[in-house]
Amino acid sequence: MTDTNGSQDTGAGLPAGLPMAVPAPGLPEYVRIHEVGARDGLQNEKSTVPTQVKAEFVHRLADAGLTTIEATSFVHPKWVPQLADAAELMPLLADLAGRPELRLPVLVPNARGLERALELGVREIAVFGSATESFARANLNRTVAESLAMFEPVVARARDAGLRVRGYLSMCFGDPWEGPVPIAQVAEVARRLYELGCAELSLGDTIGVATPGHVVALLDELTAAGVPIGHLAVHFHDTYGQALANTLAALRRGVAVVDASAGGLGGCPYAKSATGNLATEDLVWMLHGLGIRTGVDLDRLSATSVWMAEQLGRPSPSRTVRALTHREP
Ligand code: HMG
Ligand code: MG
Repeated sequence: MTDTNGSQDTGAGLPAGLPMAVPAPGLPEYVRIHEVGARDGLQNEKSTVPTQVKAEFVHRLADAGLTTIEATSFVHPKWVPQLADAAELMPLLADLAGRPELRLPVLVPNARGLERALELGVREIAVFGSATESFARANLNRTVAESLAMFEPVVARARDAGLRVRGYLSMCFGDPWEGPVPIAQVAEVARRLYELGCAELSLGDTIGVATPGHVVALLDELTAAGVPIGHLAVHFHDTYGQALANTLAALRRGVAVVDASAGGLGGCPYAKSATGNLATEDLVWMLHGLGIRTGVDLDRLSATSVWMAEQLGRPSPSRTVRALTHREP
């Protein structure tokens, strides 16, 4: 049976792809999803996805209604060979510049990365720091202080050129070398990174060890340190299945920007215990069920993840993608 939108009926009275919306108090009306599948997802694939496939992926994500799509990284190609084609990819996305609602941020660690991004007309960048010394060394070949010093002129120059700058902070909840990371230590690095001039700071649970109370405690510490909740985003990897619970805890505290990757692609090449990000479909299912707008067409997005899974030769780990694509006729 199909409804007027062409969706299948599950037999339980609900059109497939649409949870019943029952709002809960104290939550935002709209959540902006920062889609990281093309960057965080593909950077961790063993095989390198052809540039044309990446371009089609980004177009499909945009057609599914995502408005912030992290496209790639301008890092050293030897450090992340999977994204070494950034300069070839960006021109294939040029037609998307005609959509004013669409943002295509890219990762930039240093002056060289910014130069490369500016040459290609990039309008938004993200610098990425670490709350711990071990990961700063592994990911950036720098201490925490040296990485902040590396970002400072990059953020200043990007802002002068009219770019929007996001800051990522990794290892906010635990680190594979150092174990638990003290909340005060995270808040201090986060504040310094934010004060460089980042419009938004995304808190990374790089290895997916956070739990909801920890999320709330960190958000409270950060807001007390002077980082406004409206400038914070959350970036959960789903290693222990906690990403959705953590997201709900953050939404209740007033966060309204959530990072996720289509189909749950992802990880981090310099933190081996990191698995995929929170799957965008799982997030959208929960948000729509809470009556929160996202602008995302869940069926279209899920079809995109199935298509990408075929390109990668393995099924999507997203529970929602699996449920939507294996439903009975
Ligand atoms: P380095 O080896 O210290 O670089 O790496 P350097 O500054 O000493 O320069 C060495 C050479 O690299 C020079 O060339 C530079 O020009 C060149 P040479 O003079 O020898 O011919 N170079 C570059 N080439 C192209 N693009 C550049 C660039 N920079 C230098 N941007 C560096 C330092 C930062 C470059 C390196 O460590 C790097 O590229 N790291 C990136 C690692 C990465 O991308 N990790 C994944 C993203 S972070 C993540 O996934 C976490 C996140 O998802 C949040 C979470 O989950 O927590 C965001
Ligand atoms: Mg990540």
